[in-house]
Amino acid sequence: MFEAECPLMMTHLGWGKQIYKFSADRAHIENLAGNTMRWNERMYIRDLVGKTGETHTICGWIQFTRKSGKIRFLGIRDGSSIIQGVMVKGETEEAAFELFKDLRQECSVRITGVVQESKQSQYKIELLIKSVEILGKSDQYPITPKEHGIDYLLSNRHLWLRSKKQVALFQIRSRIIQAIRDFLFKHHFIQMDSPILTRSVGEDPAGLFGVDYFDMGTAYLAQTGQLYLEASIAAHANVFCFGPTFRAEKSKTRRHLTEFWMMEAEMAFFDNDDNMDFQEDLIRFVVEEVLNHCEWYLQQLERDPDVLRKILSPFKRYSYSEAIDFLKAKGSNIEWGEDLGAGEETLLTEDSTVPAFVYDYPKQVKAFYMKENEEDPRTVKCSDLLAPEGFGEIIGGSQREDSHDKLLARIKEEQLPVENYEWYLDLRKFGTVIHSGFGLGVERLVGWICGVPHVRETIPFPRLMERLTP
Ligand code: 4AD
Ligand code: MG
Repeated sequence: MFEAECPLMMTHLGWGKQIYKFSADRAHIENLAGNTMRWNERMYIRDLVGKTGETHTICGWIQFTRKSGKIRFLGIRDGSSIIQGVMVKGETEEAAFELFKDLRQECSVRITGVVQESKQSQYKIELLIKSVEILGKSDQYPITPKEHGIDYLLSNRHLWLRSKKQVALFQIRSRIIQAIRDFLFKHHFIQMDSPILTRSVGEDPAGLFGVDYFDMGTAYLAQTGQLYLEASIAAHANVFCFGPTFRAEKSKTRRHLTEFWMMEAEMAFFDNDDNMDFQEDLIRFVVEEVLNHCEWYLQQLERDPDVLRKILSPFKRYSYSEAIDFLKAKGSNIEWGEDLGAGEETLLTEDSTVPAFVYDYPKQVKAFYMKENEEDPRTVKCSDLLAPEGFGEIIGGSQREDSHDKLLARIKEEQLPVENYEWYLDLRKFGTVIHSGFGLGVERLVGWICGVPHVRETIPFPRLMERLTP
């Protein structure tokens, strides 16, 4: 809609833009200090496509500058893309040439130029610069093209986010989230937001963050929205939530954050086979969307799109028992009944080009709400989806216990306070149905798709055991 209306916008120019279009006089540029252009009059780089030969003004930040003989080059980032600006004697205003020395990395600018074709850029265009105005200076920007240590970069996360690879990563993250939502909405889901302050333990009683809650004692930061989604399915059948999730796990691994974003879905009348089929379709759709919309950003990350194209084939499925046999054959000394750690997950998927489900885990390593397998009551109807290339678990899901009495027995067995689960048990009293759901860790999914191994880079502001700032 926005792009389609661009030609019309040419007839609705604000006064600032009129001046830019018809005059490159420096005096006029000075007049443009302040926000003279309304948001819907401003041009974005992406909207310059198809406007070769036209003069336009963009606002953004200087990503790099370069000189080559009499020509000057600038990289300008405006959120919609990055474009190369070129200054040429005789074409570019003298004043702009003089300003070049002050155009430091990350200063903010307003630039007017003529759109030209170019081979290199994302949208195959560049800007022949006419005039430049510095809006905000940037001297001695702390992140330079040289190598910096990870601690330094994380301490400067508020600035590091502007770097080329980080920009690419978060453009892809946003597209991934959009694709997940598109897929769910297409399949008749609605979003039902779940609370962050809770009384009930969702996953692991040992991994809870507590906060003082008036005179009611301790409230916990949610580890999952699942139990609330289960309440919502009787109203809407298919629901999802997407929000921050908290785990006070003392894990310093490349896969653990203390605060991460989880997309959780819950579906009435789905058994765990439906659940796995649905997850597989979702992941394939997301990968396809990334391939269709983010090729340029994958390139910036040096992520080979052919690796992702292979994901479009059927996923592997191992029962937990098959996985144990497979691991033993590969030399692991894991025993039946133990949980799979990162090492085992890597062994299972390192030679695979597609993700793999492991289903029907032993009851003792999984959460209380999972439905027991009638054929083998030592196990529960659940599955973890493991990404290939050793990335490990990206989704955890299960069929839920739908019998009131069995669920109550499990809550007691796990020594959870029954009074906090009365409402959850009610769901099995009034119209209980077979139902399943899953939780997808967004940072792990983004990490795998982008080929970035550590989740501290795939969330804008990571919260780790030893990091709460910036
Ligand atoms: O396997 P988990 O613990 O499952 C649940 O929370 C279920 N209640 C979900 C559901 O069925 N509605 O977590 C789901 C996913 C994991 O597969 C992983 O991708 C991610 O959340 N995850 C983490 N990501 C980053 N840091 C952590 N500490 C994570 N813990 C889990
Ligand atoms: Mg899990």
